[in-house]
Amino acid sequence: MSRLHDQPGSARLDDRLGVAPAQLKSRVIDFYNGLNSYLADSSLDGYVQFFNWGYLSVDSRPDDWRGDLPAAMLDRHAVRLVLELLGPLGIDGRDVLDVGCGRGGTLATLAGRFAPRSLAGVDLNPASIAHCKQAHTDPRLRFFQGDAEDLAFGDGSFDLVTNIESSNAYPDIDRFYREVNRVLRPGGHFAYTDLLQPGQFAHAREYLTANGFVIEADRDITANVLAARREAAQVQLRAFNAGGSGAGDPTRAALMSYFLAPEGSEFFDHIADGRFEYRILRLRKLADCVEL
Ligand SMILES: C[S@@+](CC[C@H](N)C(=O)[O-])C[C@H]1O[C@@H](n2cnc3c(N)ncnc32)[C@H](O)[C@@H]1O
Repeated sequence: MSRLHDQPGSARLDDRLGVAPAQLKSRVIDFYNGLNSYLADSSLDGYVQFFNWGYLSVDSRPDDWRGDLPAAMLDRHAVRLVLELLGPLGIDGRDVLDVGCGRGGTLATLAGRFAPRSLAGVDLNPASIAHCKQAHTDPRLRFFQGDAEDLAFGDGSFDLVTNIESSNAYPDIDRFYREVNRVLRPGGHFAYTDLLQPGQFAHAREYLTANGFVIEADRDITANVLAARREAAQVQLRAFNAGGSGAGDPTRAALMSYFLAPEGSEFFDHIADGRFEYRILRLRKLADCVEL
């Protein structure tokens, strides 16, 4: 079985930056520490629950989530991405794990709209987890600092694992896939969305279906994510850059531009030219992983 590492033209961040996996993880922590401290220093801290690029409907598709979110809702594109990801999956009475949970917006969205039994979030970044613990007070929600490649939960603990725009930073993606299989109960679902190279998605399909999963949905949502960036990124950039004592700081402005990917940025262009795809995969676990 080929590994993500061996895929030609791998987009792994450590390949691009020439750093080892352990260093990559500490860079990820530093990066999100920076974002969290910018937010803490701004008037936005209490409002930002997501770190993803969101989803905007561009044409009505049969598999689109049927519903409306208020135009004035700050996080509506990110909330919409969660609802698109969940699709027809029912989670009432279920145990849910969100891996790479960031500031907890996905679990808060699920808790507010459905009746899951429990919701756990894991993120590598301690500042995000500290924010989650302080901001989300629903007793069904629990947050843990931890690594997607080494989940601190017992076998068969969850009915649904969600993962939004996070796996692109994992040095050993197959370890993560095996961990998802391990913590899911048979019949449980893995709802997965990210920005990856087409070859990395091919690998995900191949690896996961060879290791106990069946694919129930596979949607290219690149156009929807780009539309969300077109609509929201400049507004978000202005809000971020205006706030707090670092207002006008060029380092902060550059970081935010990289992160928010407004139209015309390098990241936006790489997606628009097809080098990356943003997809939703929904998979169901049939059996335990054969490569544990
Ligand atoms: C772009 S943010 C998305 C956050 C959240 N899913 C959302 O939609 O708002 C990526 C998140 O993945 C987390 N992350 C990166 N590598 C991780 C790892 N190895 N284990 C757990 N979380 C990780 C980061 O700390 C960050 O919070």
